[in-house]
Amino acid sequence: MRFATLTRQPDDPLLRIIGQHAADPRPDKVDLGVGVFRDEEGHTPVMTAVKAAEARLLAEQPSKSYLGPEGDKGFVRALATLVLADTVAADRVVGLQTPGGTGALRLAAELLARAGVARIWIGSPSWANHAPLFKQAGVEPALIPCYDLTSQMFDLDGFLAGLDKAAEGEAVLLHGCCHNPIGIDPDATGWQAIADYVARRALTPVVDLAYQGLGDGFDADAAGARTILAAVPEALLAYSCDKNFGLYRERTGALFALSPDADTGGVVLSNLLALARANWSMPPDHGAAVVRIILEDPALTQEWRDELETMRRRLADLRATLAAGGRIGTIDLAAVAGGKGMFATLPLSPTQVEWLRDRHGIYMAGSGRINIAGFSMAAIPRFHDALRDMAANGVV
Ligand code: LMR
Repeated sequence: MRFATLTRQPDDPLLRIIGQHAADPRPDKVDLGVGVFRDEEGHTPVMTAVKAAEARLLAEQPSKSYLGPEGDKGFVRALATLVLADTVAADRVVGLQTPGGTGALRLAAELLARAGVARIWIGSPSWANHAPLFKQAGVEPALIPCYDLTSQMFDLDGFLAGLDKAAEGEAVLLHGCCHNPIGIDPDATGWQAIADYVARRALTPVVDLAYQGLGDGFDADAAGARTILAAVPEALLAYSCDKNFGLYRERTGALFALSPDADTGGVVLSNLLALARANWSMPPDHGAAVVRIILEDPALTQEWRDELETMRRRLADLRATLAAGGRIGTIDLAAVAGGKGMFATLPLSPTQVEWLRDRHGIYMAGSGRINIAGFSMAAIPRFHDALRDMAANGVV
């Protein structure tokens, strides 16, 4: 009888918000919790290019027999071209399909552990699942506080100074674009400085690219990752299609590994395939098949990119409208204007987060992270008013 030795684990706080929001009867409640894109009506629609690809898949898919631990090779190839362009020689990159970006990160963590990498350095705050995921796989997370919530600034010098403590070969996690949870990315100069630093110190970059196309545009959002990969002999890149293809629950992602040469790459891929086999055997197919159909068809690709651009514009407009609220109490909303993508984290205390939920039906992560896509344009003035009400009531 071993189960009695287990201790109860807390619910994931972010996922708990989904249930709390659903149970709230107030018609004007606002869900700024989990990171999904929403349209002005609050829906997370299936993208039209995805619907078209799904129809084609339904009509034409010849078999559902196993594809192997690598998944859909056409998907992996098309995605590699899209993400990496001609940044590095194609024979230095191997890749495989994974269950979502989380599956890619998990595989990256296990590969690092297998290669004897004991620690990964992570700028803090980061996605709440990063540290537990690496820890669970045997790679100890080391956090470097480097984001200031009040000014919404990324402290590049502080980040690099924190990395000074890293030993050669240790890993460093980098958000490719649209930082989750802050929304602030390095600029081009900052990316180059990070690339030069990790190359000089022989650190192993792990780029988490989960929001390509939702920040400054499709290629602009890959520029940081490309700068890093161009500078180093070895790197890992975890890719998620959840947000930019709207495929969330289909768990569609990929892991790419950059090696110094094709022979090393072959060995790396053999390890990744063995790890995948021992984890999930084969990844789920549907989402990857849909992405492949889209990326192999120029007309569907254009349709998808146009829709993604509409989503990106909506996020930018919402962010600008939110920021126009300026300083309310101690919160300077103008500072969020410099961010991109779905998230910003406001310098709110847990008491304030709870108060906004109880009093105004505004739901966000306990850290003060907001999913900007959760707003409708009409909800933003209400949010400004709620912050005013909070300041007037002296809630701290
Ligand atoms: C988020 O950060 O809200 C999303 O990436 C969903 C998740 O799995 O946490």
